[in-house]
Amino acid sequence: MIELRHVSKQYRTRKGAFDALIDINLRIDDGDMFGIIGESGAGKSTLVRCINLLDRPTSGSIVIDGRDVTGYQGRELRAFRNSVGMIFQDFSLFQQRTVLDNVTFPLEVMHVDRGEARRRATALLERVGIADKAQSYPSELSGGQQQRVSIARALINEPKIMLCDEATSALDSRTTIQILDLLRDLNREMGVTMVHITHSLDVAMRVTNRIAVIDRGRIAEEGPTDEVLTSPQSETTRLLIAHSKGTVSDEEVL
Ligand SMILES: Nc1ncnc2c1ncn2[C@@H]1O[C@H](COP(=O)(O)OP(=O)(O)O)[C@@H](O)[C@H]1O
Ligand SMILES: [Mg+2]
Repeated sequence: MIELRHVSKQYRTRKGAFDALIDINLRIDDGDMFGIIGESGAGKSTLVRCINLLDRPTSGSIVIDGRDVTGYQGRELRAFRNSVGMIFQDFSLFQQRTVLDNVTFPLEVMHVDRGEARRRATALLERVGIADKAQSYPSELSGGQQQRVSIARALINEPKIMLCDEATSALDSRTTIQILDLLRDLNREMGVTMVHITHSLDVAMRVTNRIAVIDRGRIAEEGPTDEVLTSPQSETTRLLIAHSKGTVSDEEVL
């Protein structure tokens, strides 16, 4: 279980202090497909960076399976980060490495035996449907294929938690659906808890069971996805729905 307890994050800027997150309280259960939605600049990426401690909350705590990880340093911090997979909008692959070597990278860092690393990476590439691209370079792949590689790399350590920050925002709608369906299948097969950061209600509708709507650093509302999106209680959610209705395509869900 992931718990955020009174998490606030303040950035110091030239114009003074800026509150990116204000008293966030959230509970994400094991196996959840949890969505964090909101407009650009709402604080979604800051929130997800706080969960895996790429960024530290200014106050409050991150509690994973009952353990407060907020103050982790050194070896403990590295071990914790290794237990959380992450994928991004821009795929963030190493351009100079082959697909296979991208996926084995986290294991190299942990000094896992090379043969063992290759076996595990090959099995995962098989699972995400791009085993035939193992010796290709990222630049030779489509966006959807690159995201499959980054999913395999994120899963190589068998994480309990996977964070997806706008994972499909750079993909066309057909590829988006394929990647989301893959993530949903992996969630079911492996029991990985996934946190999906997205500005898209269609993405939230397709994969998440619960969502939190975030607005200017605060949670506007939270609950089961279908309830929140069919009977929104906050003005923020109503606005998000109204905006998305203006731009739906026929393949999308809303
Ligand atoms: N390192 C930083 N320093 C100062 N301000 C930041 C920093 N990172 C993010 N912000 C600000 O915090 C707010 C939330 O950013 P972010 O979490 O990236 O939003 P989102 O992912 O929802 O688009 C934005 O106004 C952004 O400009
Ligand atoms: Mg963001």
